[in-house]
Amino acid sequence: MGSWLETPDGWTGRMFQVVICLMIASVPVAQSWSKEGHVLTCRIAQDLLEPEAVGAIKNLLPDYADGDLSSLCSWPDQVRHWFKYRWMNSLHFIDTPDLACTFDYARDCKNDKCVAGGISNFTSQLLHYREGTSDRRYNMTEALLFLSHFMGDIHQPMHVGFTSDEGGNTIQVHWFKRKSNLHHVWDRDIILTTLADFYNRDMRIFQQDLQTNFTKGIWDDDISSWGDCHDLFSCPTKYATESISLACKWGYKGVHQGDTLADDYFSSRMPIVAKRIAQGGVRLAMFLNRVFGEHNQQITGPI
Ligand SMILES: *[C@@H]1O[C@H](CO)[C@@H](O)[C@H](O)[C@H]1NC(C)=O
Ligand SMILES: *[C@@H]1O[C@H](CO)[C@@H](O)[C@H](O)[C@H]1NC(C)=O
Ligand SMILES: *[C@@H]1O[C@H](CO)[C@@H](O)[C@H](O)[C@H]1NC(C)=O
Ligand SMILES: [Zn+2]
Repeated sequence: MGSWLETPDGWTGRMFQVVICLMIASVPVAQSWSKEGHVLTCRIAQDLLEPEAVGAIKNLLPDYADGDLSSLCSWPDQVRHWFKYRWMNSLHFIDTPDLACTFDYARDCKNDKCVAGGISNFTSQLLHYREGTSDRRYNMTEALLFLSHFMGDIHQPMHVGFTSDEGGNTIQVHWFKRKSNLHHVWDRDIILTTLADFYNRDMRIFQQDLQTNFTKGIWDDDISSWGDCHDLFSCPTKYATESISLACKWGYKGVHQGDTLADDYFSSRMPIVAKRIAQGGVRLAMFLNRVFGEHNQQITGPI
């Protein structure tokens, strides 16, 4: 430890600088379901895929992913500050007018630059996948990863939040004893506390519990309605509307700048977070099955 700090030049010093830079670069700009949230959403989706979608995804993912979509579902967050992807920053969320608690596509998603618009854009790109491999205007691998990621984000209630507080990012709170902010509580803190308190920090057990709850548990009546979607290009509006409504009813409700959020907030909100992760997964599977399935010719896109 000491020698690291005492030799700030030469190779060790260089490494030290690199490490510091990486640390700074990775300071979370708390603006997405955590890695855990995205992994869970994508794993749930993967288990519901039909063979055609499984094949397409295996084909589109890089070899090192070994057919596992969930391993790359947070990739869009890792590149969001890269110059090339900077224009996509606003595709991870939606700002809605303060206290309105509604989402209006024309008002809140100008030029399609919001998460609902991102989902539609990448869905329409992926619809071309079945046309063949040559002459593709877009990178289908990226389209798959962005669609999968944004389907998670649109289900995180605080990703559809108020404009002035940046979806809760500027509302400083304590999560139990740690400093956090309201957005981050929903992105990650609730998930991590859930994993620690109930699942021995094992994401697989959490995932199984989520899946059990929609196959034969508390949500088994709901699951078919989650996947209901007449028009792939208008359903994201429904998901965003659900999110802002949950953000108002459960996210913002009763929370003030500087509050400490603990047991009461956790136990009442945890079921909401769990359900949103599951819904995101079910709906992502529905999108991918339809986009890669045989009948995609019947889907006409606006873009
Ligand atoms: C859709 O995504 C492509 C990149 O894949 C981008 O060039 C285009 O501007 C996007 N369209 C909208 C409406 O955001
Ligand atoms: C598509 O995007 C991925 C991820 O950015 C990249 O690794 C790959 O080389 C791209 N493929 C093509 C054909 O450009
Ligand atoms: C699944 O349902 C059980 C029984 O209602 C509940 O205790 C548990 O918290 C639920 N788990 C998840 C992850 O939603
Ligand atoms: Zn994101």
